[in-house]
Amino acid sequence: MTPDLLEQGAQRVAEHAAKVAAAQGKTESGGRNAGFGRVAKAGEVDVTHGRILYLEDVCVSFDGFKAINNLSLDIAPGELRCIIGPNGAGKTTLMDIITGKTRPDSGSVFFGSTIDLLRYNEPEIAQLGIGRKFQKPTVFEQLSVFENLELALKTHKGVLPSMRFKLDSAQSDHLAELLHTIHLADSVTRNAGNLSHGQKQWLEIGMLLMQHPKLLLLDEPVAGMTDEETVRTAELFLTLKGKHSLVVVEHDMSFIRSISEIVTVLCDGSVLAQGTLDQVQADERVIEVYLGR
Ligand SMILES: Nc1ncnc2c1ncn2[C@@H]1O[C@H](COP(=O)(O)OP(=O)(O)OP(=O)(O)O)[C@@H](O)[C@H]1O
Ligand SMILES: [Mg+2]
Repeated sequence: MTPDLLEQGAQRVAEHAAKVAAAQGKTESGGRNAGFGRVAKAGEVDVTHGRILYLEDVCVSFDGFKAINNLSLDIAPGELRCIIGPNGAGKTTLMDIITGKTRPDSGSVFFGSTIDLLRYNEPEIAQLGIGRKFQKPTVFEQLSVFENLELALKTHKGVLPSMRFKLDSAQSDHLAELLHTIHLADSVTRNAGNLSHGQKQWLEIGMLLMQHPKLLLLDEPVAGMTDEETVRTAELFLTLKGKHSLVVVEHDMSFIRSISEIVTVLCDGSVLAQGTLDQVQADERVIEVYLGR
């Protein structure tokens, strides 16, 4: 690599770090450059308008097919929002847009009132405090439950610092508390590969929680779980609500019933209906396209 390229690379890394720090309010002026003259505290998302996530008129096309069509959505801080809808409605694509995996063709996506997520890439968005759980568990099978949780914290800080990284007492306390929250306190030393499917899902949620996310996106979290694991996952999500904002996509209606407040029904890339589960289940359009008669 030429010195020129090295210099350009170093500059890009510095620009990236400055961009993330600025979005978290960690600016040289102590966060005083937050939008609209407000003072943002370091690492905090501005939720003064009662929203942690805000999408407006978002459109995404794949080869001319509109997967997301003028979608607008509003999530309150601490809310647990359920999203349901038929296969191909655009639920996973919505998560791809929020996490920077897919770029919309048009529309706005804001984290709090001031962070324009369309200006950030996937790792930057994760660092801003948006955690995502894919359907398939991705834990390190050869490592213990404890080591997986510890590693989640290390890798979040970057690869190099992780080699010299040790948990401080606050992090150790957090990890110990988390083990109870995710129902794995009795399995600390077990290899993740020996856990049941449901336990692996909880461990992965725990790995996300180690990073103190403000918003958690969970795509079909109870698919493949036993009935008992599904009930315990509902309990887990109800514990997380309030401390975190959650967006949960699921097809399992009894699970949705046990956790839901507001349910958003997506169809053909747009919001078809929104309300309590009873309200949307009574909606003729929802019955027609999704729930059946
Ligand atoms: N990268 C892509 N390229 C082309 N088409 C895509 C891409 N991602 C999604 N789609 C299409 O966009 C539509 C929405 O897909 P999406 O996966 O978001 O649906 P979903 O609501 O999550 O469905 P399911 O309930 O089956 O998971 C589908 O028709 C899908 O085939
Ligand atoms: Mg999907």
